[in-house]
Amino acid sequence: MKNNTTLYLYELAWMLPSVALPVGMLAALLVTAFGAHIHLPGKTGQIDPAQVTQTAPFDAPGIVETGPGQYEARIVAGIWVFNPTEIRVPEGSEVTFVATSLDVIHGFFLPHADVNMMLIPGQIARITTRFKQAGTYPFICHEYCGLSHHTMAGKVIVEPRS
Ligand code: CUA
Repeated sequence: MKNNTTLYLYELAWMLPSVALPVGMLAALLVTAFGAHIHLPGKTGQIDPAQVTQTAPFDAPGIVETGPGQYEARIVAGIWVFNPTEIRVPEGSEVTFVATSLDVIHGFFLPHADVNMMLIPGQIARITTRFKQAGTYPFICHEYCGLSHHTMAGKVIVEPRS
């Protein structure tokens, strides 16, 4: 039979992690919130989901040149389609994707360019990436959004500079 000291050490071995884990998570939360400034979007990142089609820039979905070699892709997601479904930019372009949802939670996943966003009604998602190589880059909805979720897709066509 084990003596009391051994049992005590076993108990301690279980208790310490159960204290350390929440303390560690709280520390991680404080570091990301105040150190890395990761937080929920402010007023500028919000939109009235009922007014999306009347609110700039989503009143005119599509691709807009914002500077030399720079583009903004304005995307509206709704069941079960992206608007637009096809985006064309020249090779080497820097593209900022700005997207939101009309109805339920959708996703915007463009694996070959490391773009992965959640499109939440009422919030505006934004991410910038550069397309260094010509080619076709498919994107899909990767948040289950109902019956035809699997058909919700589109593509970025990066045209070669001749
Ligand atoms: Cu939209 Cu899944």
